[in-house]
Amino acid sequence: MNQNYYNQLLQNNKEWVSTKLNADSTYFEKLANGQQPPLLWIGCADSRVPANEIIGAQPGEVFVHRNIANMVVHSDMNMLSVLDYAVNVLEVKHIIVCGHYGCGGVNAAMSSNTFGLIDNWIRHIKDVYRFHHRELDSIQDEKQRFDRFVELNVIEQVYDLAKTSIVQNAWKSAKTLSIHGWVYGVGSGVIKDLEVNIASNSSLEEVYRLKI
Ligand code: CO
Repeated sequence: MNQNYYNQLLQNNKEWVSTKLNADSTYFEKLANGQQPPLLWIGCADSRVPANEIIGAQPGEVFVHRNIANMVVHSDMNMLSVLDYAVNVLEVKHIIVCGHYGCGGVNAAMSSNTFGLIDNWIRHIKDVYRFHHRELDSIQDEKQRFDRFVELNVIEQVYDLAKTSIVQNAWKSAKTLSIHGWVYGVGSGVIKDLEVNIASNSSLEEVYRLKI
């Protein structure tokens, strides 16, 4: 990162602050009073998929967790902490898992190439391929197979959220909480709703339904 670029970022911030204050002189005071976002976003770390911007959400609206390939790994303390705080303290009503076409993490999982430490993270995505290998292997066109793998990965992460004790406890205590799966088109800007909307554990296989 060259020095000019770095300095420009701080300059951009100053300009953004004045723009906001010109429109509403109490803008930051109000934000400082606390947050009550209705939505938890679990997205990819990819720089082209900025959560707030693509859905026109303002600061204070979206609680965000991002990692490579928008994964919900059930032993990931970072994800679990964000999820617990969002569900039990902020009481979000919706969780959206948003993947994106052209995801480098998903692409890596389709190959046998190695990328270092990250191979161990990518392993979780390979599991999704294994669950759906019949459908995926039947798709001849490589790009179509890649796109479908991105979609199936999002759907699996939606179900993995539903399998957590955090989400099932919320449903048990009659909290309104819906989990949705989306895929963002980096090349179009358009979001595809995969129409997988889960609001109870009844769609989970028996073994995952916790008797809370
Ligand atoms: Co990605």
